[in-house]
Amino acid sequence: MKSSHRKSRSVYLYEEVYNYIQTRMERGEWKKGDKLPSIRELSSILQVHRLTVFKAYQQLKIDKKVTVKDKSGYYILDHSPLITLQTDDHIQNAFLHKSTLSEIHQIPVKFQFSQALIDPNLLPNRYFSEYVKKVFDLYPKVLGTYSTVQGDEELRETLANYFRKKHNLHVEPEELLITSGSQQAINLIAHSLIKPRDTVLMERPTYSAAIDIFRGQGANILTVDIYQNGYNMDIVEQLMKKHKPRLFYLNPTFHNPTGYTVPTEQRKQLVELAEKYKCLLVEDDPFHDIYFDKAPPAPLFTYDSSGYVMYISSYSKYVAPGLRIGVVASRQPLMKILLTAKSLADNGTPLLNQKMFLHYFTSERMQQHLEKLRIALQIRKEIMEDALSQSELKWVSPNGGLNLWVKLPSNIDSMALLSKCVEQSVSFVPGHICDSRNQLHSWIRLSYSFASEKDLKEGIEKLCYCLRTL
Ligand SMILES: Cc1ncc(COP(=O)(O)O)c(C=O)c1O
Repeated sequence: MKSSHRKSRSVYLYEEVYNYIQTRMERGEWKKGDKLPSIRELSSILQVHRLTVFKAYQQLKIDKKVTVKDKSGYYILDHSPLITLQTDDHIQNAFLHKSTLSEIHQIPVKFQFSQALIDPNLLPNRYFSEYVKKVFDLYPKVLGTYSTVQGDEELRETLANYFRKKHNLHVEPEELLITSGSQQAINLIAHSLIKPRDTVLMERPTYSAAIDIFRGQGANILTVDIYQNGYNMDIVEQLMKKHKPRLFYLNPTFHNPTGYTVPTEQRKQLVELAEKYKCLLVEDDPFHDIYFDKAPPAPLFTYDSSGYVMYISSYSKYVAPGLRIGVVASRQPLMKILLTAKSLADNGTPLLNQKMFLHYFTSERMQQHLEKLRIALQIRKEIMEDALSQSELKWVSPNGGLNLWVKLPSNIDSMALLSKCVEQSVSFVPGHICDSRNQLHSWIRLSYSFASEKDLKEGIEKLCYCLRTL
């Protein structure tokens, strides 16, 4: 590790050491029972002070990832992922990237509370065969060509108009890039803007896959806590001032996993801070339209006049996950950089998908669907909350989005509960995977959007039974 700014950065240097060790454990290079290098060895390898390594080892011990044997050293405890890829095959062992969330989604269960997806029965599937036909009639060669890398021009124009009308958000079609879902947008941004050891600021907790993406790029992740009323803005400013993060990835509207929404005043302040400290704000906003009572505040992008916000929206959740349509709004010259990354990733999102989406999006059905969907999701949220009210669990009822962020009694570990729940065919997301520091062990995320009303009730009863008998 480079020695520059070492003193001023010592507070978070230990987090870098912590992440270094954790990554090796996750890749299976350092396995259960292995002895960690001595403090002296690792401080010499990483070129950091011994106290920094000591602090990282102590934190790993607190997080129950290592144990100390008297006078012998630090040993790795069992931290096996639910599904593991470790083999002796040297090609598979080269696997660097990890997706904790997708490991959890792969557990086959009947009562699915881990996927923040919408029940396909609530989506407009039955109309799409009509749109396939319409698109082939209008553009008979739609499959005979690539889309442009940036995305279909007609779709970008439509979305630019829609953003202008809906959010008073002024963006030109050339400032929009169509992506394959917002997940790809996060990936493209990380790949094009983040180098190993760059600092990325993220909320704590946050969308677990985003942690894996930025960590996969070798970023140092710094965190700021998100609360029901947003952030402590003094802390955000201190972090930006001291650590100069390259970007702040945030999901300020019906935040995943908490459901919190950052108020308007803080949105404006964030844009000012971004400009002052030259920190790009990456605003991930896939849940903006999924509200229950009143529409949420306008996106941060609306307040940006200097190009310090990238705005990601997605129609994957509530129109058609299978079409994978997302969009990034960015000013130049960053758009150019994203376009290069997109061309290397897939040469453009499939044109058929973009055209089908366009024709649905501009039909009257779209608004009618959204209105019905909001009611259906609110009902599901209330069913889940009713079923949970028989337990001692606590949560803040969200005004939109797909999830409840639930506090377990402090003596209950979310992984122990998950193991027991999986036996009852119930799954959820344990809180620590939404935390880049791997803490928050007594929190869980329950999605109310995927299971049917009947399964919500039955599944939560099973979860409450597991809690009582753990
Ligand atoms: C905050 C957030 N961003 C991005 C995504 C990815 O969504 P998609 O790629 O389906 O648009 C999700 C999915 O759950 C999410 O919760």
